[in-house]
Amino acid sequence: MSALSAPSRTAQIRALALLDPLAACAPLAALLRDLFGLVPENLRINLDQYSLNSLNGFFETPEGAFFFKFHQEEGEEGMTGEYYRADILSRAGLPVDQPVHVSTLPGEQILVYRKREEPRFSDVLRALDIADDAAVRVSAVAAESALSRRLTATYLATLHPITQQEANAEPIHRLFHERLVDRPGDGGPPRYPGGRLKDFYLGQSFALPGMELSWEDLSARRFRVNGRTYARPLAELFDAAEARLRPERLADAGGVVAHGDAHNANVWLTPTRKGPRLTFFDPAFAGANVPSLLAEVKATFHNVFAHPFWLYDPALATGWFNAVARLEPGLLVVDTDWALSPVRTALLDVKAREVWRPLLAALSARELLPADWREVVRLGLFLCPTLVMNLRAGARSHTPVSSLIGLSVAVMAGSAPLDGADMVTRFLDSIDPGRGQAEAGRPIEEGH
Ligand SMILES: Nc1ncnc2c1ncn2[C@@H]1O[C@H](COP(=O)(O)OP(=O)(O)O)[C@@H](O)[C@H]1O
Ligand SMILES: [Mg+2]
Repeated sequence: MSALSAPSRTAQIRALALLDPLAACAPLAALLRDLFGLVPENLRINLDQYSLNSLNGFFETPEGAFFFKFHQEEGEEGMTGEYYRADILSRAGLPVDQPVHVSTLPGEQILVYRKREEPRFSDVLRALDIADDAAVRVSAVAAESALSRRLTATYLATLHPITQQEANAEPIHRLFHERLVDRPGDGGPPRYPGGRLKDFYLGQSFALPGMELSWEDLSARRFRVNGRTYARPLAELFDAAEARLRPERLADAGGVVAHGDAHNANVWLTPTRKGPRLTFFDPAFAGANVPSLLAEVKATFHNVFAHPFWLYDPALATGWFNAVARLEPGLLVVDTDWALSPVRTALLDVKAREVWRPLLAALSARELLPADWREVVRLGLFLCPTLVMNLRAGARSHTPVSSLIGLSVAVMAGSAPLDGADMVTRFLDSIDPGRGQAEAGRPIEEGH
């Protein structure tokens, strides 16, 4: 078989790997030999049980240990893949891991990276959530701060007006708006509600501590969390996100070069003599025209508000935190002791001061800051937890307690409280270019 028929070979390898990963190793080794001239030894496939699109693993050669990754492309043109996107980031001055071998074939890229032995930043932060250690925390926050300065330099250097077509062409929308809609096969307009919103929630029943609610009921209630009532119920937030996060509407704030999906499980933490250094990887959603108000949303939600534990370790969150609920007319009344840990609070403060605030100030100075920027940022933050994994207890790993914490945090991100300021509101106040530096520079306290 020649390398030219590789797409069908990769399809066969994927199919085989799902049934029997060991049996897929021989054809995979042959493919790596034909494409790259490698003679892999000790080839192992890691199958991600949740993603049929993801096939990766490790192998060795006399030159060292490697990680390989099959990357299926949705846009069929050759130049859309991860390699091309890593190059955009690297040329804009961002630290990003680069593959050592790439094969770009229609519909599929195969990438080979050097195998990394260091932890992901997410692993280091999770350990700090479990047991805070001041010295490790300070060095982690310093690393975040150094990365933030590079991000801001890149954002300010690359900020530019974008057309609606350019905004539309960015893959980042697959993390946001695309998850709300179905795309009919005939290329007609997207249908709302659809996508993950429909698959995860519509028509479903929600087990919360001490009660079970239908989606119709739950999604129409206002949340009151620890005494603070949130203006917009879940259904209203999804509707608002569908309308405002349409790709072309996001062109109004210009575009930047950004990774777009820089949650810390896509960031390596490399120890150096000068302290830990952070490097991005997995830039599948990166681009040169990323709508600037979306660029930092994923990193802000998934590295801060998604922790400690409730999003990625629901069982741990259930043991660690309390969350109870009761009904009042029109309300879901929640009480919880969930709160950010010290390292998450510190990371939010860095993100606010060193990235968001200068970015928004630049947008404002360039007359690219829409009047409703808070709404855009809030709705983006809201879609992060709700449409990344199913928040419904029992659907995957969520329990009634972690589900209730998750839904509450999602509402706190998406909606302003009717009165007072919670942690998300204080965060937005702190980055608002319309507010004075002294007021905005105040650290964001932890709170409910
Ligand atoms: N170069 C590498 N060396 C070792 N492990 C890696 C390497 N690149 C990725 N991994 C591991 O594989 C996981 C998935 O890889 P990633 O590139 O993030 O793909 P995706 O998130 O699209 O599945 C990472 O979270 C990391 O644990
Ligand atoms: Mg990843």
